[in-house]
Amino acid sequence: MTMANTTKAFIGAIAIGIAIQLVPYGRNHVNPPIVHEPAWNNPETRDLTKRVCFNCHSNETIWPLYSKIAPASWLIYSDVAEARQKLNFSDWKGGQRGGENSFEIRKEIESGKMPPIQYRLAHPEAKLDDASKKALVDGLEATVKASIKH
Ligand code: HEC
Repeated sequence: MTMANTTKAFIGAIAIGIAIQLVPYGRNHVNPPIVHEPAWNNPETRDLTKRVCFNCHSNETIWPLYSKIAPASWLIYSDVAEARQKLNFSDWKGGQRGGENSFEIRKEIESGKMPPIQYRLAHPEAKLDDASKKALVDGLEATVKASIKH
């Protein structure tokens, strides 16, 4: 008896699903050490930023189970790598890098670009009401201004 095409397709899909787990990219989830944080204007700003931004823009990433499974692992890993490169609250460069600019941060949050929409959908704690959005933007602005090295 020959296998139905749907059965073959199903087995093929499972085989591919298993094979891609062997790709090494995106599997290193060891967070780099915390080097230097900005001078937070108050603990509430840090708490809020940690809640909404730290998973990508810090070295304190909490990697969920699905971030260990390809292909989600590849997308999440490259997102975090790119995010840390632009703005890393655990490796503050003293306002000397593009993403550390408070004008840029305000623009990204107020326009709803950050945190990214796909992240907000998966993380209810990252959805901001108007009051916490304002607290976050104002708090980060004060923090960035106090953290610029001259
Ligand atoms: C899901 C991961 C993720 C989260 C959560 C996240 N970001 Fe980002 N962020 C990125 C990525 C990826 C980039 C680089 C690509 C881009 O600019 O879209 C980025 C870029 C940025 C930039 C630089 C923009 C530029 O054009 O140079 C700023 C500023 C920023 N994020 C601020 C924040 C702030 C503030 C938060 C929290 C309110 C936040 N992000 C939350 C992933 C994230």
